[in-house]
Amino acid sequence: MSSKRNPIFYPLRNMESRKNLKLELLGIFLLNVFVFSVQQTTIPTINWVLNETSYTRLCSTKKILTVNGLFPGPALRVHKGDRVRVNVANQGKYNVTLHWHGVKQPRNPWSDGPEYITQCPIKPGANFTYDLIFSSEEGTIWWHAHSDWSRATVHGPIIIYPKNGTTYPFSTPDDEFPLVLASWFKGDVMENIETALTSGGEPNKSDALTINGQPGVLYNCSQEGTYKIMFEYGKTYLLRLINAIMNEEMFFKIAHHSFTVVGLDGAYIKPLVTDFIFITPGQAMDILITANQTPSHYYMAARAYSGVVYDNTTTTAIVQYNGNYTAPSAPAFPTLPGYNDTDRVTDFTRQLKALDSKDHPADVPKTVDTQMFVTISVNTLPCDTNGTCSGPDGNKLAASLNNVSFVTPEVDVLQAYYRNLSGIFETNFPNMPSTVFNYTADDLSDDLLLPETGTKAKVVEYNTTVEIIFQGTNVMSAAENHPMHLHGYSFYLIAKGYGNFDNATDPELYNLVDPPEVNTVGVPKNGWAVIRFRADNPGVWFMHCHLERHSSWGMDTVLIVKNGKTEATSMLPPPKADAIVPTIMLHTLPGTTSGYTSGRSDGERRRRSTFEQHHRCRATADPRDKEVSHFGDHDHLCMPTRFEPSQRFVSISLYEDRRHLDDRRHTTTVAPRPPNTTSTTLVHQMGTGGIEADKSSCTRKKNMSHGKTIMIVSELRRSS
Ligand code: C2O
Ligand code: CU
Repeated sequence: MSSKRNPIFYPLRNMESRKNLKLELLGIFLLNVFVFSVQQTTIPTINWVLNETSYTRLCSTKKILTVNGLFPGPALRVHKGDRVRVNVANQGKYNVTLHWHGVKQPRNPWSDGPEYITQCPIKPGANFTYDLIFSSEEGTIWWHAHSDWSRATVHGPIIIYPKNGTTYPFSTPDDEFPLVLASWFKGDVMENIETALTSGGEPNKSDALTINGQPGVLYNCSQEGTYKIMFEYGKTYLLRLINAIMNEEMFFKIAHHSFTVVGLDGAYIKPLVTDFIFITPGQAMDILITANQTPSHYYMAARAYSGVVYDNTTTTAIVQYNGNYTAPSAPAFPTLPGYNDTDRVTDFTRQLKALDSKDHPADVPKTVDTQMFVTISVNTLPCDTNGTCSGPDGNKLAASLNNVSFVTPEVDVLQAYYRNLSGIFETNFPNMPSTVFNYTADDLSDDLLLPETGTKAKVVEYNTTVEIIFQGTNVMSAAENHPMHLHGYSFYLIAKGYGNFDNATDPELYNLVDPPEVNTVGVPKNGWAVIRFRADNPGVWFMHCHLERHSSWGMDTVLIVKNGKTEATSMLPPPKADAIVPTIMLHTLPGTTSGYTSGRSDGERRRRSTFEQHHRCRATADPRDKEVSHFGDHDHLCMPTRFEPSQRFVSISLYEDRRHLDDRRHTTTVAPRPPNTTSTTLVHQMGTGGIEADKSSCTRKKNMSHGKTIMIVSELRRSS
């Protein structure tokens, strides 16, 4: 299905090969709609469609959100240093964003993707173009949705080949296979997390784990589809293994074969020979395997390293040698490490070292400007409703970093930072936990259960060096391995250990020569990990545990790296044509019996007659309403809708620019304005007006319907 000969996107192809490339693509990704747009720029654009597609697994069928109908999603193939645009049209039913996990996106947090951190979600019916700027990454990373739990089904590989004229730092493999580990839930994944967050309890565990979309023979009704890769005796293959699983760290093994791990998180490492792999959610590995066993069929299998609550099932796939032989009735099965085999985990991870060659040097900061000590805990918070929650003692489950449980803001942090909007986030994420305690002790006091809540970011100066000591805790007796992930960066993992970090002796263990350069670090269960990096990528970058339930509970924070002194060391301006900020037109009308909604007029000329109505609205508008004329500019029309007299109404039209208007449905909400709302914060009841269907408002609720309370928070801005 995929091989190194597959097409590669890069900007400088001539028209002829571009044509071939397109044909090739069509052949390979049957369902994908990859179209290059060759406009003024040479940056290729790929079009992706997010849609709900029916899939049957474990004898039950459901609709899942996919990119182009595929699970796992399409692989994005580029060369080191390329730039590619991905236009995402959301035809699904949920707000979604996509994140390019491990793409550093120099100076370009605008396309990083985490919802409410660097952008508002792409709403159903809308689209958004991500501008992916590749820099030092080489090897395998991945992309995934970054909105609630939609990443369960919306993810795929990013494969970064060496620049033309350069080669792998190992002999070129004969072929390659991406292998994506993922979670399968029988129920709707978004409902699963919504329900859990409301009830305060644990979200449901997954019902299966999968390899390239298939659970394999150990599950009901799964024999048929079992995923298979073909080996030719004597050849060497590159496995691109990605852990896209929601809540489990994984062991992975292939019967009778050994591996040489050569890359991790888009950077090369010293070849590590091993017969099993340990991989946390968020990580991706480049693994060489030679087909040197008796031609036959062999199982590959993966299952969890124990967590607090985890799916203990085993996913399998088949390695099948070409040739004439009698297939075994039962292929050899690998012996995976036990669920609790922490020794194997330690053994594997401590062998990971940066390649540190002339072409791929390690450049570890030797001095530290900002040092942070960050505790990682699972906590509880009082139940929101006066009813009781299903978490411990009737409370709801929560999680924190330095005892701060992250609250997702209503306007994305990047926008608030860039435009100086106050009240969205604070810059006081602490450098230390507020209480020092015996972090990894067995019976920690219940006083430690309750975290602070807030949207707190850590701000650092451009080009300074940062060291973070992550300290796992046993609060709630919930110690586990936490895969901490930082956006916008790779960092050096300079040491790891068990127990409490000891400032006097542990620094002696630091590897400042060839530590692995990664974007995700598994902080050992009841242990610690130390990372370093140079803050040379200005922007707003999410940092969180990649166990999805922990992130949902607040095990997150934001790193803001300030601009340098020059333009070249500052954040790029926000994308223009695809303005991230929806234009909000605010019309506050005095009590009246008719409000209005607006609609796009293209092909709707019959509504012209209501144009007069619009002008009447305009005449009675609040003085703050400076932008009403944009209705006219954008051919928006006014339609009467009935409301209660004596109410004040706020009509909000969200749109970006003319280009966007052309490819989506019209957009409107009409609602009474509650007292004491400010110009940037409006909490209101949906009226009889309309259901918005626009691109990217900061609307928190996923499914809008009449009569429901929703919150729309946005910034007033002209669209011209
Ligand atoms: Cu895989 Cu916030 O990331
Ligand atoms: Cu975690």
